[in-house]
Amino acid sequence: MESKLDKIYNLCLKRGIIFPTAEIYGSLSGFFDYGEIGLRIKQKLIKIWKRFFKEENFVEIEGNIILPRKVVEASGHLERFSDPITRCKKCKKIYRADNLIEDVLGIFVEGKSIEELNEIIKKNNIRCLECNGELEDVKEFNLMLKTFIGSLDAIDAYLRPETAQNIFVDFKRIAKAYRKKLPFGIIQIGYSFRNEISPRQFLIRMRSFTQAEIELFFNPSDEKCPIEKYLDIKIPILTREAQRKKEDKVEFFSIKELIEKNIVKSKWQAYFLAKEFIFFTEILNFPKEKLRFRHVLEEETPFYSAGNFDLEYYFDEIGWKEIVGNAYRTDYDLSTHMKHSKENLSFEGIIPHVVEPSFGIDRIILAIFFEKLREDRDWLWFDFPKEIAPYLIAVFPLVRNKEEIIKKAREVYEFLKKYFEDDVIFDVSDSIGKLYARADEIGIPYCITIDYQTLQDNTVTIRNRNTKEQIRVKIEEIPKILA
Ligand code: GLY
Repeated sequence: MESKLDKIYNLCLKRGIIFPTAEIYGSLSGFFDYGEIGLRIKQKLIKIWKRFFKEENFVEIEGNIILPRKVVEASGHLERFSDPITRCKKCKKIYRADNLIEDVLGIFVEGKSIEELNEIIKKNNIRCLECNGELEDVKEFNLMLKTFIGSLDAIDAYLRPETAQNIFVDFKRIAKAYRKKLPFGIIQIGYSFRNEISPRQFLIRMRSFTQAEIELFFNPSDEKCPIEKYLDIKIPILTREAQRKKEDKVEFFSIKELIEKNIVKSKWQAYFLAKEFIFFTEILNFPKEKLRFRHVLEEETPFYSAGNFDLEYYFDEIGWKEIVGNAYRTDYDLSTHMKHSKENLSFEGIIPHVVEPSFGIDRIILAIFFEKLREDRDWLWFDFPKEIAPYLIAVFPLVRNKEEIIKKAREVYEFLKKYFEDDVIFDVSDSIGKLYARADEIGIPYCITIDYQTLQDNTVTIRNRNTKEQIRVKIEEIPKILA
């Protein structure tokens, strides 16, 4: 049977929503292109994300995706940003060792040392899944994608592994030029790159993906965090204790408790956990039961962080996957860049601390697809909220062979564009039944149809995607009704 992921993937291909890069050349594993519909969904998600997360004292930048070697050397990525790999001695198939163990034994081993992974593979006699061959010893594989700049004198450069690094290296100029005072945020939305060993599950493990990151700079001895408004909010935590006991049960903690019990070590980190929970449950309407904050175990916490909480979403038939990472990066990055660049990156007399929420935009889009996919018709359809739907309105003529009706439909389309701009599309390419089905497949909330009666009395039908019901209204009333 087709899995839910396959259904979504096939619909994405069929409607040109998102599809593999360079398909005609056999594509490039872990790389995907967005067609107009996918791109519009992504742009709309980013718009509501910014509306919710970008605060008055935040500025946005667009840094370069290529960074000189010195940046990733200083940040620690060149030395430590790696995954464990192993290879079949016989057929040479390469595996990410922790994923292989998770798949075969069903246990969670991310963050375990190379020696521990080797031991688990040997003890459990894990062999190549393709040819049953023996596996080589596990070793570290760096995830950075490398390129070269220049000709005969070419120097190494790297595609950024996270958008955060631009923010740290631009910090001094931004803070000064934009006259910032602590606490303040710098945000960036853009592509990052990781040379994943086994890209898989469509938008879940990609080699090039869009991040939306906030680096919040603050003074740790006086955080000045407006946390009061969130103190009573309760959020589901998968504690470290529960994970050690191999339990899957979340506990609800108030933000106040998380701070008082020192589970979360910075008020700003607690502040963003609360905000993220509100964003996903109230703005995107995800069910609470499908969200949890996993307190990342010490041994799998990234090298730059003093504590991570992964906001995870439960993908049906797949399981829990991180959609937002929350790191308390302390003064790690500014200090290391200060040491390596010899620039003074102190500010207001201290090296600011940093809390970072890092959103995986593509995974969030996939989570929205999982949440909003409906299977109760002869065709699959998406119940997207209006703010996410690629278009709000589609305008159709009832028939394709009546010039007068097509002309009138175009007039209605032009009229609606004045109100809804590019959120309205016109389509005459198929029979009305197929046009409705296609509009449902990409989640357009309203279809407006121009028919014979329109020519008599200037009324049209508005079809509601969710109920399939139609109402007849006067053309000039459409903007008021749909607003
Ligand atoms: N900036 C955190 C991450 O990319 O994982």
